[in-house]
Amino acid sequence: MALRDILIEGDPALTKRSRPVKKFDDRLASLIDDMIETMYDGDGVGLAAPQVGVLRRIFVMDLDDGEGPFAFVNPEIVESEGDQEGPEGCLSLPGLFGIVNRPMTVTVRAVDRHGNPFEKTVEGLGARCVCHENDHLDGILFRRHSQIPLCALEDLPGGEEEEQEQALLSDEAGELA
Ligand code: NI
Repeated sequence: MALRDILIEGDPALTKRSRPVKKFDDRLASLIDDMIETMYDGDGVGLAAPQVGVLRRIFVMDLDDGEGPFAFVNPEIVESEGDQEGPEGCLSLPGLFGIVNRPMTVTVRAVDRHGNPFEKTVEGLGARCVCHENDHLDGILFRRHSQIPLCALEDLPGGEEEEQEQALLSDEAGELA
């Protein structure tokens, strides 16, 4: 496993549409392992392949709830329900946060690193993460969805700085990557 460099907003790869994975080989497995390591290293709960310069439809997620990490290959959101409004960040926009509205629950259909199909329903932070990462695969950064101009964490509206930090720590939001 190896750490990969995370591309920063402004890199053209981040605004391109990624293509589906067709080969389920050792190279894909290495990429997924590297992405997981890179996500952990950046303290993110998710990371999408274009963020490491690979324009393929893959993202990884670990909500730090003891269940992950998960790799979603060729994901498709097949159902979404409800909504949630909250702070969001991204490892490709370091130090910048916004307020983004996302569904409260989403069901995503994908295949794993071996090409085996699975379906997963996630809510709260998980739903926020899946939507955020899935957007990366279409070249969309969360800046586009933010209801406020992006700002530093301490400048986010809607609460004292302490409350915001508390919210981030309690997994209400965070550096989604
Ligand atoms: Ni991101």
